[in-house]
Amino acid sequence: MKIARFSRIGFILAAAGSAVGLGNIWKFPYIAGEYGGGAFVLVYLATVLLIGFSIMIAEMLIGYLGRRDTVTSFEVLAPRHKNFWKYGGFQGLAGLFIMIFYSVVIGWIFNYIVTSLYTLPATVNEAEKTFTTMLHSDFFTQLFYHTLSFIGITYVLNRGIKGGIEKLNLILMPLLMIILGGMFIYATTLGAFSQAVEFMFAPDWSKIDSEAFVIAVGHAFFTLSLGMGAIMTYAASLEKDSSLVKAAFWVVFLDTAIAIVAGLMLFTFLYQYGSGPAKGPGLVFISLPAAFYEMGILGNIFAVLFFLALAFAGLTSSVSLVEPMVQYFIDRFSWSRLRAAVAMGTFFWFLGIFAILSNIDGAKEYLTWGGKNFFDWVDYFTAAIMLPLGGLIMAIFVGFIIPRNEVEKVMRPQLKWAFNAWYFSLRYVTPVAMFVVMLSLMGVI
Ligand code: PFF
Repeated sequence: MKIARFSRIGFILAAAGSAVGLGNIWKFPYIAGEYGGGAFVLVYLATVLLIGFSIMIAEMLIGYLGRRDTVTSFEVLAPRHKNFWKYGGFQGLAGLFIMIFYSVVIGWIFNYIVTSLYTLPATVNEAEKTFTTMLHSDFFTQLFYHTLSFIGITYVLNRGIKGGIEKLNLILMPLLMIILGGMFIYATTLGAFSQAVEFMFAPDWSKIDSEAFVIAVGHAFFTLSLGMGAIMTYAASLEKDSSLVKAAFWVVFLDTAIAIVAGLMLFTFLYQYGSGPAKGPGLVFISLPAAFYEMGILGNIFAVLFFLALAFAGLTSSVSLVEPMVQYFIDRFSWSRLRAAVAMGTFFWFLGIFAILSNIDGAKEYLTWGGKNFFDWVDYFTAAIMLPLGGLIMAIFVGFIIPRNEVEKVMRPQLKWAFNAWYFSLRYVTPVAMFVVMLSLMGVI
């Protein structure tokens, strides 16, 4: 089958678009706040550099060599036990699971773009009321915007790699960077900027327990889009002889830079105009709008731009979350793109309804188990378990299963002297680190 290919810049922007998402701007600041800032940020940064970067290259390599959907790529690259290894490709399902809550959050963002146009909450209390009313009792608003997000994402996916995904990223990613860059520059002129720097970088190790550690590692995977085949699927449509290392470098760099820029900017606004770093998923929906209110009319403009940027980030990631399974059904079952996109979209749209309901009064009681509701369970299960596990599988697959000479042929010219270090890291450092994370998850250590 003839596959449309990304241009080089298109690939880098699409992969960066996948990585830069709600994870960077919505999730990172609030979990950093929850786990005490500095120390947590450093564990996350160390994971990104020591493990994330090498797995990113490995994941790109599987797609680049396999050149098919994730399941087939694993299959064609495993010299033996194909039937076993092909299950590595089913990590793509994690993306659909993530979409269950991801699309709901994009819906909240759409709602906030619209309301910030004409009103902002005057106090944190008011902001909290607005947010919790939406969350706990306004089922139909959430459903409406979740449905809008489903339609947009399915539309783009139906247009394919070039006319859909690449185009979306070529337009939205530069806009996103301009908006965040502009707001960041403004934040650096405010007095509270240094407090934000201190909060994000001064480590207080007493705040790091094993849970914080697992969450930081899980987040490194989540934010880089690793472990579920999104990057792999994109790399399957990369021109031959492209440099994977350069692409991986840019993706890791942009993703990390944008998380830090967004974090510093948000915390500056919260210190300057609001109540300091808030905890929990409500951070950008509660504390931030109240801080924007204090800025007057500039606040309204900032709020709309900020939520637009957040929506852009979310949409470019969403298409990458669904594309692996779309590609799977096209490749393996000869489905049309339309059919595959609609089917996958319907899957996350339908289960997304339960993610909404799991916060709605009167329904949430039925959708909560062990202190977490359905929404939180999906988040926890995918980010803390499925993605690190997927990353581990990919590291082992490239480190031990694909014959070394095939890996070397492509990667040594690109990595040069660093090849051995990368290979060693995939074979030993990553598996051991992931093993520790798993043990810690199970409460053994
Ligand atoms: N990296 C995205 C974010 O930070 O929001 C989320 C994501 C996209 C995770 C694609 C995994 C993935 F494959």
